[in-house]
Parts: sequence; structure tokens; C-alpha cells
Amino acid sequence: MSIIRLIENRLNHHEIRQMICSPYPPAGLSIVDEVEAAKQAAGIAACDFVSDGMDVGLGTGSTVRYTVIELGRRMNEEKLDIRGVPTSIETEQLARSLSIPLIAWNEVGRLSVTIDGADEFDSQFHLIKGGGGALTREKIVAQVSDAMVVVTDPRKDVGTLGKFPLPIEVIQFGWEVTLRHLQEMCPGVASRRGGDEPFITDNGNYIIDCNFGASITDPVKLETDIQGISGVVEVGLFTHMADAVVIGSPQGIEVRIKTGGRLA
Ligand code: 5RP
Repeated sequence: MSIIRLIENRLNHHEIRQMICSPYPPAGLSIVDEVEAAKQAAGIAACDFVSDGMDVGLGTGSTVRYTVIELGRRMNEEKLDIRGVPTSIETEQLARSLSIPLIAWNEVGRLSVTIDGADEFDSQFHLIKGGGGALTREKIVAQVSDAMVVVTDPRKDVGTLGKFPLPIEVIQFGWEVTLRHLQEMCPGVASRRGGDEPFITDNGNYIIDCNFGASITDPVKLETDIQGISGVVEVGLFTHMADAVVIGSPQGIEVRIKTGGRLA
């Protein structure tokens, strides 16, 4: 496939090369450990899109967590010189614990790159995000970034988006009405995350999860349509934003660079 370049073309980090060339993860791991090891490998590999002097968007989730930890390690042990912008309180706390300098929100300008996870991605590099509820901050940070790199695993590689329930952040006021609007657009069930004990985002809002099923054939239009509903803060469709996907699997790491994207 032309959009795929093996990671050797992008990366020069010795250990990562070794990972690709040798069986990975090591034999004898359980499936759960294999998935975790693959996530870790993807998270670490993505760090090679980062270099000295960059301001970097730090995503949210269990895969990009490994990226943040590795960036912290490179700063402390290899004198990598970067600043970060976290996409959630959770990531902010992690970055602070690793002594990664953070840029105050009111001083954020353009970022060189954002590295973040995803719940689904398709062949056009469109994404569903927000499984962790951080989609609005993630999109704000991605939108001021010169490139977006997604760290992920093969389970999230889909033909058509939508099997993963689409997260939508809505304000608390009138949420029942907003839910009704969303339900009218969604062929499956739309429901407030957390039920009677609702999940509250870092911004103090609710999340509505919409079960479209694998039916989102025009994610660009759906993103715009949902953004047009009053009460909606943001939708977890990220279209025309990702430039590369780093996929960790027991077979190794694959990096897909979007043809015509900002990293091509
Ligand atoms: C959080 C997100 C995450 O990036 C997404 O849910 C993937 O997370 P994980 O790497 O833990 O599977 O969008 O809002």
C-alpha cells in the first residue's frame, strides 16, 4: 500500500528498530499483556515524530500514556527539549509528574504536533475519539497543531466508522432535549454515559454515546450536522485531522502516513 511506510523510514531510534526486527512482543505473554505491549510499542514509536524545540499536544488514553511517559524519559535521560499541552486533567497530572514543562492555555500558539489515541480509524484517516471523554480538549489541541499522529492498535482499524459508540459532549442544561435531537439522527440507541450517575467531563459537561453501528459513510457531513445541534459542545468525529497512524501489534509496528497529509 502506498500510504504505508515501514517505520524504518521514519524512525532512527535504535531500540525501536530492534523491536521491529525481532519477534515482538516477547513470546509467552498473555493476550492482555500482548495488547498492552503493542500499545506501549506504538506509544513509544510515535515519540520519534518529536524533536528538540517542539511544542507538543499530549493526548489522552491508555496508549498515548506510553508516549507521554517516553517523552518524559527522553527529556530526563536524553535532554530532549520540548513543551507540552495536555488534552485532559489526567494527562496534565501525568505530564507534571514527569516534569514535562506545560504551556499555559492562554499562551498556546501553534503546536508542532499532537500525538493522541483513537477509538476507531478508517482508510481516510478519519477518527472516532472520546472513549475517555476528553474529545473537546483533544480537538482544540489538534486544531492548533501542524500535524496529528495517532497511536493505536489493529482492533481500531475499520472499514466504516461507527461500531464504537460515537461520543458527543453536551452541556448539562437541557440535555434531555439535546439527547432527543441526537436520537433522531442515530439509528441505534443514544444514551447519556454513566446513566443515573453521569460521567462528567473535565469541562463539566455530559457525554452522549450514539450507537450508529458501522454505518457512518459520510463522517464529514455527520460531524457538521451534529455540531449544528444547540447544546452540543463537540462531537468525537475527527475528520481531515490525522496525518499518520502508528499501529502497534504483536507482529510489530506499522506507520501509515496519509498521502497528501502534512507529514507526507
Ligand atoms: C480519549 C480518547 C482516547 O484517545 C481514545 O479513547 C483511545 O484511548 P485508548 O488508547 O485508551 O484506547 O479519545 O477521549
